[in-house]
Amino acid sequence: MTVELDVEADRLRDSVERVLRRARERSVALTDAVDDDDLVRQHSKLMSPLVWDLAHIGNQEELWLVRDVGGREPVRCDIDELYDAFQHPRASRPALPLLSPAEARGYVREVREKVLDVLANSRMGGRRIVERGFAFGMIAQHEQQHDETMLATHQLRTGAPVLDAPPPPKPGGTRLPAEVIVPGGPFTMGTSAEPWALDNERPAHQVHVDTFAIDTVPVTNGAYQRFMAAGGYDDPRWWREAGWAHRNEAKLVAPRFWERDGDTWVRTRFGVTEPVPANEPVVHVSWYEADAYARWAGRRLPTEAEWEKAARFDPATGRSRRFPWGDDEPTPVHANLGQRHLRPAEVGAYPGGVSPLGVHQLIGDVWEWTGSDFHGYPGFAPFPYREYSEVFFGPEYKVLRGGSFGTDAVACRGTFRNWDYPIRRQIFAGFRCARDVRRDESG
Ligand SMILES: [Fe+2]
Repeated sequence: MTVELDVEADRLRDSVERVLRRARERSVALTDAVDDDDLVRQHSKLMSPLVWDLAHIGNQEELWLVRDVGGREPVRCDIDELYDAFQHPRASRPALPLLSPAEARGYVREVREKVLDVLANSRMGGRRIVERGFAFGMIAQHEQQHDETMLATHQLRTGAPVLDAPPPPKPGGTRLPAEVIVPGGPFTMGTSAEPWALDNERPAHQVHVDTFAIDTVPVTNGAYQRFMAAGGYDDPRWWREAGWAHRNEAKLVAPRFWERDGDTWVRTRFGVTEPVPANEPVVHVSWYEADAYARWAGRRLPTEAEWEKAARFDPATGRSRRFPWGDDEPTPVHANLGQRHLRPAEVGAYPGGVSPLGVHQLIGDVWEWTGSDFHGYPGFAPFPYREYSEVFFGPEYKVLRGGSFGTDAVACRGTFRNWDYPIRRQIFAGFRCARDVRRDESG
């Protein structure tokens, strides 16, 4: 028994080391891609300077893994306050006496060396925070979430392209139905079993969902351009009041990063300007734009529960899967994740990731806005601290699901929840639509 436990802990330590290393390789690549001026500059009021993200990644790793889990002496307790996201809003961060790029790089390296030592000596159990490696998984997810934020900063940066990646796979010739009917009834939402699930994904609970229809694939640029061409941005009928006010104030006429070029549209993606590709999911639209499109199309956004049922429910067993394709970790066959490609794939490009009900590309490509506000599930308990999720609960935030091409697999699963303000467009967010199904349709 002890031998088995040792083998299990060894395996867990190996996988923790792999995900920590993968996150660090990405952080290094994102920060080495630009010069020091670019690292300390604020590319948008919405974002931190890249050098803040880098040292903040190291500081969170130090707080949780070096000091709390490891019980070790602080590496730099003098900088905790500077890198506390709650102390300083993003817009104010460039004015802080931040670590220089060289200091930040040295700091995250020093913290990581100590963490690898803590990891080598951890029993991966005992205290709840280290049970099945949770704290290590939480920190790997945190770093990857900041890597996605840094990728969004790269998208906001102006200048010549500095990032490169091969194009995503193309779809085969199979014609997909426009929508899929999801049967009404209960299903299990959230999780109590996933070892690295965050507090807001817990606990698993039964939710009843009425029969509904959901788009087989995310809304494409081509479909979105039909909304634009039909005057969708100029017709208050499609917008809710706050959305219409925001559309007027921000003068929204198209997704962010799109520009008119004669009678067509082009978009700029990581410094490359190109014609808008009709078959890619639309990205960089706010919740208000998604909501207006859906109303124009005679549809609506799916609720968060509907999205999760479409993604996880297996009608053959009545069980909810970890991912649409099953319980296996994502591979490049399943989904466009992890910044392997610098864009969403065309719709239909991931038949290997289809859900049991036939819904495509729920994981990866683009985050999907849902119609739901961010709330705790019944039985929610904050862990390991209130600021992780609980302070964000309420009607100001809308839930996004499924991850984007910029989300790493460690920070993405069928139960993973993201949230943001309904006006936000710099994130890699798109959407798909749903509708109620009449009783005589569902037969
Ligand atoms: Fe953070």
